[in-house]
Amino acid sequence: MKESQYRKLQTDLIIQSLHTQYIGKEVIFFDTTDSTNIQASMLGEKGAENGTLVLADTQTKGKGRLQRAWFSPNYSNLYFSILLRPPIPPKLSGWISLACGVALAKVIRSHTGLSARIKWPNDILVNGKKLGGILIESHVQGDAIKHLILGIGINVNTSRFPKEISNLATSLKKELGHSIQREPLLVALLKGLEDQLESFYQIGSKELSNEWKQFSDSIGKQVSVTFADRVISGLATDLDTHGELLLEMSDGTVTSVISGDIVHLRNKQSPAKQSENKAEK
Ligand code: BTN
Repeated sequence: MKESQYRKLQTDLIIQSLHTQYIGKEVIFFDTTDSTNIQASMLGEKGAENGTLVLADTQTKGKGRLQRAWFSPNYSNLYFSILLRPPIPPKLSGWISLACGVALAKVIRSHTGLSARIKWPNDILVNGKKLGGILIESHVQGDAIKHLILGIGINVNTSRFPKEISNLATSLKKELGHSIQREPLLVALLKGLEDQLESFYQIGSKELSNEWKQFSDSIGKQVSVTFADRVISGLATDLDTHGELLLEMSDGTVTSVISGDIVHLRNKQSPAKQSENKAEK
């Protein structure tokens, strides 16, 4: 079956089976939109409720981290943004990103049986390839978070990716060998996200840090981090109290990484292996 022949998301099915306290109490659905993050951000400015869910079947300007585009073909994957008004100061907002990664990894594991892992800060990997990503955009005023947009993309039923990412990305369909229904997965993800966020708001970051490390694909690996002006490499050892990644450098010093893109050096493929993969597609 061609991806374009997949059916639309059934929002009534989602609303009926959702048992959350606030995430998804208000649902705005677009058949096509530019980016659910852009739409959620506009709603946030207009005073929309905590937990408002913006969902789309296709995005024309899907946004990824670090100014990248997010591949958003129609009727096959999940693209959604949640508007949050979190009861925490801006300096703790990094933990929301980690909480979100843990929630996604847990739900994907329980819903599909796949061994989802997290690449710092919150890429969701299955068998070393990217299955999902999270883009968080905070709107801060003074020392308070006015609202925060949690944008999530999960590759569900896509069978083919553009060649630039075909060696790096995967979908549930590719991993499981069959397509899966998006609505029940989304319902489980929304409940998992709310539970994980509430647990963080109520009991703090210690437990979350431990859970994140259990699912982490980065801790214990030699990684490199690319900044605008330099690249550094070190052994990823832990998270600090702000959720930043601690790297032990070759001279024994420890550096924390706030944001950016890390590369797992031990996973880096040789050019020979890359062209082998290309030939398989
Ligand atoms: C990443 O680069 O890993 C983050 C990808 C986030 C993509 C999602 S899809 C729904 C939401 N709307 C967007 O424009 N981006 C996020």
